[in-house]
Amino acid sequence: MLDAENRNETGITEFILLGLGNPVELQPFLFLLFLVIYLVTITGNLLIIVLIAADQHLHIPMYFFLGNLSCVETCYSSTILPNMLTGLLSVNRTITVRECLSQYYFFGSCVGVETFLLAAMSYDRYLAICRPLFYASLMNREVCLQLIAVAWINGFMANSIIVFLIAQFSFCGPNVIDHYFCDLSPLKKLSCSDPSLFELIVLLLSFIFTIAPFLLTFSSYICIIASIMKIQSTIGRRKAFSTCSSHLMVVCLFYGTLIIVYILPDTPTLRHLNKIFSIFYTILTPLANPLIYTLRNKEVHQALRRGKVSKTCKHRIKLEEKVLPY
Ligand SMILES: *[C@@H]1O[C@H](CO)[C@@H](O)[C@H](O)[C@H]1NC(C)=O
Repeated sequence: MLDAENRNETGITEFILLGLGNPVELQPFLFLLFLVIYLVTITGNLLIIVLIAADQHLHIPMYFFLGNLSCVETCYSSTILPNMLTGLLSVNRTITVRECLSQYYFFGSCVGVETFLLAAMSYDRYLAICRPLFYASLMNREVCLQLIAVAWINGFMANSIIVFLIAQFSFCGPNVIDHYFCDLSPLKKLSCSDPSLFELIVLLLSFIFTIAPFLLTFSSYICIIASIMKIQSTIGRRKAFSTCSSHLMVVCLFYGTLIIVYILPDTPTLRHLNKIFSIFYTILTPLANPLIYTLRNKEVHQALRRGKVSKTCKHRIKLEEKVLPY
């Protein structure tokens, strides 16, 4: 009753997240599926972080970027998945406006940091492959540290501005979000304030913080692929490509699905498709990254084999040390 009275003055205070829109029978299955995805994502990314911290051989810019990427992806999936999992278990899927905004804030910031880190990583590969003579002078510890700091600061700063602006909006209902997390566009649609200035600012910020890193990543890869094509020997070509193919896969998965989600027109019939593609970049990218790197990357393999991952596998380490005398 009180709520209904409040509604007219201060607007709504809670949203209802509709979730994936799956049939109820599927709920236990989806819960298990996403629980497994979440656990694998967290374990894989933490494994990469520990591995990079523990192994001196991996203390080079490429792996500092990767470690930070794993960090941001741990964060990233933790803003979406726990909430989604509880939503799959319960009937009551309300989320307060404040929770919704903070979910968007952390999610959006992590996406921002991720785009910058992916750009920095592709710039690193560009220097290594296209400017190998200058690599050591252009990509040293200090530059690497600065690029990483810029990524974190920019990601969080841009979204602080956006969330500050949304917090000024009034929401007067309906309060139903047809999505499984609080993304920007459904939030904007529910508000009854005039969004034109907001839209302009978001456009500007997304240009600086998403499209610019994307263009940087894209052009780095054009140069990389062009110079790999020029290599005469097949072995040399394969070797050069192998140092960046893992990263290229992650980039394609992330940007490919992100672009589809934001380009698809938001009509009721396409909304389901939209959610499915959102799953790719919100849930599967953080999962794919550690899988791709641990399964495909030789240096990570070797580090794993050196067995510095955990002290609990001493037995294994001893065995491996006999076989592989590093
Ligand atoms: C993130 O980058 C910094 C700066 O290069 C580095 O010192 C740190 O170890 C990285 N973090 C991880 C988890 O790898």
